[in-house]
Amino acid sequence: MIKDEVLAALRERGGYVSGQELCDRFSVSRTAIWKAVSKLKEEGYEIDSVPNRGYCLLTSPDAMTEAEIRSYLHTEKMGKSLVCFADTDSTNIQAKLLAEQNAPDGTLVCSDQQTKGRGRRGRAWDSPPGEAIYMSLLLRPDIHPEHASMLTLVMGMAVADAINELMGGESAGIKWPNDVVLKGKKVSGTLTEMSTEMDCIHYVVIGTGINVNTQKFPKELAQATSLRLAAGHSFRRAELIALCMKYFEKYYALFERTEDLSLLIDEYNRLLVNRNREVRVLEPGNEYTGLALGINNQGELLVRRENGRVDEIYAGEVSVRGVYGYV
Ligand code: BTN
Repeated sequence: MIKDEVLAALRERGGYVSGQELCDRFSVSRTAIWKAVSKLKEEGYEIDSVPNRGYCLLTSPDAMTEAEIRSYLHTEKMGKSLVCFADTDSTNIQAKLLAEQNAPDGTLVCSDQQTKGRGRRGRAWDSPPGEAIYMSLLLRPDIHPEHASMLTLVMGMAVADAINELMGGESAGIKWPNDVVLKGKKVSGTLTEMSTEMDCIHYVVIGTGINVNTQKFPKELAQATSLRLAAGHSFRRAELIALCMKYFEKYYALFERTEDLSLLIDEYNRLLVNRNREVRVLEPGNEYTGLALGINNQGELLVRRENGRVDEIYAGEVSVRGVYGYV
């Protein structure tokens, strides 16, 4: 769409771009450029137009639109096929529907809000409008179904690194297996679902929620935080989505090479906030405390028990808490 391309060109330049340059670049008329700029203004973009200089993007709304996300996206595959909703039931549900309609590998579904947002362990995921990211990435990996759960960890790493790049620091980490935490509180979670046929994966949907500009959480979400609460100012959701896709693409390529986390393990363990901490392992019918050492190549958490034995914990049924709190 011309509008998306004009927005990307203005953002890339960061200054004035002449109307003629835009016409030549996209092989369209002056009127088409003028119409695209008018549409962007209607969507809340402030664009200055000066005769003989052209157009300059002054401010942008924090919109979860295709144009806005595309203007930040520089990936080869992840998010190139992009579907954005103002409102939907759940981006995971929509991504699964698109998968059944043959949507391509790397399709990203985003929504400004969700009415049936779902979390892990059958919980609901609170999804109010205008402040958070709700996104689901559709993948068609050529891997054994048993290895798919590791993709959740890959996304956790991508989100943590994306947040750190956006916030300009090293403050985000991972609580095993894939919660992203800021200052000891949860800022993002991921729910991965998959469809298989025999021993083959039909598709995988990795759904991630990130609290970006949330200013207040309900009482029952006392362990939650947002980028805004942690940093004291707001962030552009579209920019963060694009960064998540950038890091996911990079890490996914490394994961695909070995079908495990061997090439990612050092980076994951560096981000792991549980590392070298006492954790409470909550396994149905078997709860105990131990020292979290890091993950192995399969993404299992290594926990040294008091008797010196090291357990390999598989994320499925087990969860881990800090001994003194969430982390
Ligand atoms: C968790 O419980 O930590 C996982 C939360 C996953 C929420 C995201 S929001 C986008 C996608 N759509 C959903 O319905 N759930 C995931």
